[in-house]
Amino acid sequence: MFLVVLSLLAVCVTAEDPESAVLRLEDVPAAEAFIDSSEVAVIGFFETDDARGYPEFLAAAARMKALSVALCSEKLVWAKYGIASDTISIFRKADLHQEHLNLSEAKKLDADGLVRFMTMNNVRYVTEYNQASAVGLFQSEVKTHVLLLATRGRADSDPLQERFRDLAPKYTGKMLFVLVNGSEKSNARVLEYFGLESRDLPRIGIYDGSSDKQWLMPADEITTERVQSFCDSFLAGELQKQNEPDTPEDKTEL
Ligand SMILES: *[C@@H]1O[C@H](CO)[C@@H](O)[C@H](O)[C@H]1NC(C)=O
Ligand SMILES: *[C@@H]1O[C@H](CO)[C@@H](O)[C@H](O)[C@H]1NC(C)=O
Repeated sequence: MFLVVLSLLAVCVTAEDPESAVLRLEDVPAAEAFIDSSEVAVIGFFETDDARGYPEFLAAAARMKALSVALCSEKLVWAKYGIASDTISIFRKADLHQEHLNLSEAKKLDADGLVRFMTMNNVRYVTEYNQASAVGLFQSEVKTHVLLLATRGRADSDPLQERFRDLAPKYTGKMLFVLVNGSEKSNARVLEYFGLESRDLPRIGIYDGSSDKQWLMPADEITTERVQSFCDSFLAGELQKQNEPDTPEDKTEL
């Protein structure tokens, strides 16, 4: 009998329980450490486990494997982050942004919607461009994007992407670094916007949403120094004084 109970317990513990997989933040230092530990941190501030949106949040979290997700019902932590009622909050490093979804104001709540919300707001030091991330990029208060247009997507071993990743944190709050896989058909318009074809890649470009203008770094080897001076000359306003960039035919966003 004892053995049966033990093995039942083991089954209960190891069974896929979305709730047990999510970290619970019990105090302010734990919350600070959690937020600090990743580029994008998601916290579900739920007062109780039977709160509206709670199961949907856990279901969405289980699908967002690449995101750090935690739960917090500790009121001292709520006070620190200005949370007054059940809220899903996203804390980002790349543009120092906090996005709060007030659950009592949300009309419709389902796991798909929450996955979209998290995907859209998953803006990192280097964000891979696609239809979902584009929404989050364009909603950011940081309006200048530095693009690495290459013929492949995110690859950790790619030395060019590595240089780009190393540079991005230096421009926190000033520029968002974006990786565009130019082989992806859905990104053809981005290449077109810069007047490029896939055989021209890799190239570095800057898109400025405030002026709706774009600049290409002259074709040559893409070194850290060249990208850095390209970014710095934009921030210093020098790039903008050089020959006016071609006006794109239609003014639609990337
Ligand atoms: C969320 O919405 C409710 C209802 O409108 C409101 O009482 C509460 O203050 C809001 N919370 C925040 C953090 O804005
Ligand atoms: C880039 O896009 C191409 C075309 O869709 C795809 O085959 C390739 O896997 C992508 N690269 C990465 C690393 O995602």
